[in-house]
Amino acid sequence: HIPVIRSLAQLRRWRQDVRQRGLEVGLVPTMGALHDGHLSLVRTSLQRHSFTVMSLFVNPMQFAPTEDLDAYPRTLDSDLEALRGLLPHGPQTPINGLGISEYDRRPAPRSTLEEHENSLVVFCPPVDVMYPLRGELQDLSQHKGVNISVKGWGDVMEGASRPQFFTGVATVCTKLFNAVEPDHAYFGQKDIQQALILKIRPLLTHAVQTDLLSAHPLPDNLHILPTTRDAETGLALSSRNAYLSASERKVAPVLHRALQAARTAWQSGATGASMIEAAETVVKTEQERIKAATGEDVSLKLDYFEVFDKHSFAPVRTGPAAEDQLVVAGALWVGKTRLIDNLLINWE
Ligand code: PAJ
Repeated sequence: HIPVIRSLAQLRRWRQDVRQRGLEVGLVPTMGALHDGHLSLVRTSLQRHSFTVMSLFVNPMQFAPTEDLDAYPRTLDSDLEALRGLLPHGPQTPINGLGISEYDRRPAPRSTLEEHENSLVVFCPPVDVMYPLRGELQDLSQHKGVNISVKGWGDVMEGASRPQFFTGVATVCTKLFNAVEPDHAYFGQKDIQQALILKIRPLLTHAVQTDLLSAHPLPDNLHILPTTRDAETGLALSSRNAYLSASERKVAPVLHRALQAARTAWQSGATGASMIEAAETVVKTEQERIKAATGEDVSLKLDYFEVFDKHSFAPVRTGPAAEDQLVVAGALWVGKTRLIDNLLINWE
């Protein structure tokens, strides 16, 4: 049995109980439509903390009016089923990519899972619980409620293509951090810009330490775990993969292959600019192959490839220096579906 909490009052009562018992809470924010990537995050949190809150909330504020808010998959029943499979007495499903990331390898505290059967709680609030003020959501220029905007880092890459996106993400995550008051939070490398923005902006530190001025540049209670991929093709798992047709699905792994080409170029000493070229060439070659192949009607349109520095977010073109820790990230339209992916370079 997994408790499903829908109101803030209920959540606060539960949180109070847990605090009185002196137990730790991990938070895994999601928009539902769970796949093995989400499950690997919750599995790690369950292993490390007495209690894990998984939030399932399709956040309207991070969707532009032209985007897929209405179409976004909502699958609460099967999500709960998948989560039950993670608990000690449920069927144990094999999960890819679990464990601690290569770059987040601190020892986990002894698991207290066995002592607390109901160690997983789902927080699944209706929209008006998260956004009680009317007009808080859509038109941010008319915005009357609270929002957290992310200037600079929130305006590039995903933020350039989706101007409202990081304001929506930072706002909802701030609300979630404040509501749940987690000791730790878990995010996926799959959305690396989101994870780094949240990690570097000390939102979680605010909620946990209630110290508004503490500005740890990289709060160590926000963990970034590796991307879970399709074992055969390397395609990063994503709720949006559900939109892909069978022929689009065959083509979609080209994004991962392109990023690998960029990493290979880095290994032989290429500049950031040449790494991007290497990735672009892979996409162009695939576009030509599709055009030449009869009977394939998949359209492939590159949004961006970017190589940037992990610490400064600065684009890398003429560099990098040998010690620079990089991210190579990309976004690709496969038909009407926009996919993103990235690789970390030199993070070891
Ligand atoms: P969502 O896309 O549902 O993703 C929830 C969490 O799962 C994010 O931290 C994301 O990076 C992680 N994730 C997604 N695919 C993954 C994969 N293949 N491997 C590992 N982790 C993966 O990201 C969001 O929701 C929202 O923006 C949210 C943070 C919940 C705010 O609304």
